[in-house]
Amino acid sequence: MEKLNFDNGDKIDIIGLGTWKSESEEIKNAIHAALDTGYRHIDCAYVYGNESAIGEALQEYFSNNDLKREDIWLTSKLWNTAHLPKHVKPALQETLDALQTDYLDLYLMHWPVAFQPDLKGFPSDSDDFLSLNEAPLLDTWEAMLQLKHDGLIKHAGVSNFSEKKLRLLIDKASERPEMNQIELHPYLQQDDMLDFAKAKDIRLTAYSPLGSKDRIPQMKAPDEPSLLENEVIKSIADKHEATPAQILIKWAIDRKTVVIPKSTNPDRLRQNIASLKVELDETDHQKIRELDKHFRYVHGKFFETEDGKYENIFDE
Ligand code: A2P
Repeated sequence: MEKLNFDNGDKIDIIGLGTWKSESEEIKNAIHAALDTGYRHIDCAYVYGNESAIGEALQEYFSNNDLKREDIWLTSKLWNTAHLPKHVKPALQETLDALQTDYLDLYLMHWPVAFQPDLKGFPSDSDDFLSLNEAPLLDTWEAMLQLKHDGLIKHAGVSNFSEKKLRLLIDKASERPEMNQIELHPYLQQDDMLDFAKAKDIRLTAYSPLGSKDRIPQMKAPDEPSLLENEVIKSIADKHEATPAQILIKWAIDRKTVVIPKSTNPDRLRQNIASLKVELDETDHQKIRELDKHFRYVHGKFFETEDGKYENIFDE
């Protein structure tokens, strides 16, 4: 498996298993199938609601196979209700308990957005949010860095951060984020972010690499484009006797971004990890470059408020 390096010598597998939208009932079999197939990196989050099921599946697998916690890379994410510094460690602890582990390899601030700590579910109006003055990103970030110093997480990073918000942490915080997990695929290539991240030694993880077609209907635009059915992607897949998903995953890998395709289906899990064998040439890359249209499947508008407490989440 190809890997990306961290400054301290740690290495992350370039393909991880995405678990957003995986139901608890199906994730157990998916984890077993994924580990059998060679996945060693699992991307989780508190808000996905399936960390307990993942923890149980891992324990079961470790008991029955020659694999240990240290052989696996576990990422999770701090949810928006826990941005106040006093809530950061208890939130991590809840995730560690659910995953049945005593450390994470990587912990990310899930969104640059804070909710009221007692909010259940998703916000319905502006009162459900804490403003960035009430819960400054910098304070949340420093509390996350403390977890690293406490030995509870090996690496700290962020997710859904724009260049502007990354700059805030780079300029003002005691340490920069080591990872930014963002939406990346041929319709949202974000070359400027790739250049910026490289210059600042921040790794990137590509989420929704296949277009996340299993999002709930409320999160979908009626006329959104399909990546897996794109004719250019399909023709490149035919040329290489591969599948469209494999082309999308290998494209992300060629750009040196970590990529976390989600599947709970054993055949597709195998297919996705086999993307490593596909060899895209410069013509393929040129054709894919032309597909960019800055289209977001996860547009972030659901976290914007009418009173301007939160607006333009991605600063664009
Ligand atoms: P499933 O879990 O049934 O395999 P994303 O990673 O962009 O969020 O996309 C996940 C969606 O893509 C899910 O609906 C998943 O379905 C589907 N998917 C995953 N792998 C493949 C594949 N190789 N071919 C087609 N669809 C796939």
